[in-house]
Amino acid sequence: MYKEYYGFKENAFNITADPAFYFESSRHKDAYAHLLYGIRHRKGIICLTGEVGTGKTTLCRILLNKIDPTIRTAFILNPNFSQIQLLQLINKDLGLPSIRNNKLDLITLLNQFLIDETSQGHNVAVIIDEAQNLNVHQLEQIRLLSNLETEKEKLLQIILVGQPELLEKLRKPALRQLNSRIGVRYHIQPLDKTDTGEYINHRLKIAGGPEKLHFTDEAIHSVYEFSKGTPRLINILCEHALLAGFTNETCTIDKDIILRCAKEALIS
Ligand SMILES: Nc1ncnc2c1ncn2[C@@H]1O[C@H](COP(=O)(O)OP(=O)(O)O)[C@@H](O)[C@H]1O
Ligand SMILES: [Mg+2]
Repeated sequence: MYKEYYGFKENAFNITADPAFYFESSRHKDAYAHLLYGIRHRKGIICLTGEVGTGKTTLCRILLNKIDPTIRTAFILNPNFSQIQLLQLINKDLGLPSIRNNKLDLITLLNQFLIDETSQGHNVAVIIDEAQNLNVHQLEQIRLLSNLETEKEKLLQIILVGQPELLEKLRKPALRQLNSRIGVRYHIQPLDKTDTGEYINHRLKIAGGPEKLHFTDEAIHSVYEFSKGTPRLINILCEHALLAGFTNETCTIDKDIILRCAKEALIS
């Protein structure tokens, strides 16, 4: 609705993980560097955690888009899979022929692919999002996949991405082996106050908003207070604020608008 009024090409504050809106905060940059380091240096299992809405999925999509072609990737979004399905999903995403065969065939195919790619100096990484939903069985299966190795190096790097509950799960005695295999860990913190302001302005700019549309410093301060810097909450609040600005026919989003919207958005 406000889109036409402000002349946006797209909604500025969607809550989908759209890489086109990516804002590289120092934390996201650091997280990205950790992921890349883990893949390049074949650290086996890499663990990326953060609260809901801190930008984990967005970061995965950025990695998939930006990563150089010598790194082959598979992205598993829905971790609700059986053992066979996980292998099928990984193989399919890596571009291997889909066969309906058994587990052994799928692993053999994957293993051969990994050996071929490694011999060409390529890395292969599988990203599993929402990994906090995996059960002990599934996590154990993932550990077994990370065992695929030559005498010299790990053939498959696995990135587990999830909410902090993932860390609790990994501390269970049954997953001791998996936990001790994690070579790189990174926990994404929410944005700080300065980044929150820059994040808002960055999204307004990408959406193509007019220059005269702006959030006052006090408004940004309030957005930060309510959201504590979590991008998802910033988006929800700012989306409401733009709608309120449109209703009030103003291009200045001030603190009063934010306070009212925080109540409506139920995050106050
Ligand atoms: N660094 C970022 N740059 C731009 N938008 C972001 C960033 N981090 C998070 N967001 C936005 O916040 C919302 C939640 O991000 P998402 O990646 O789904 O979080 P998570 O996977 O951690 O729950 C999405 O709308 C996303 O576009
Ligand atoms: Mg996510």
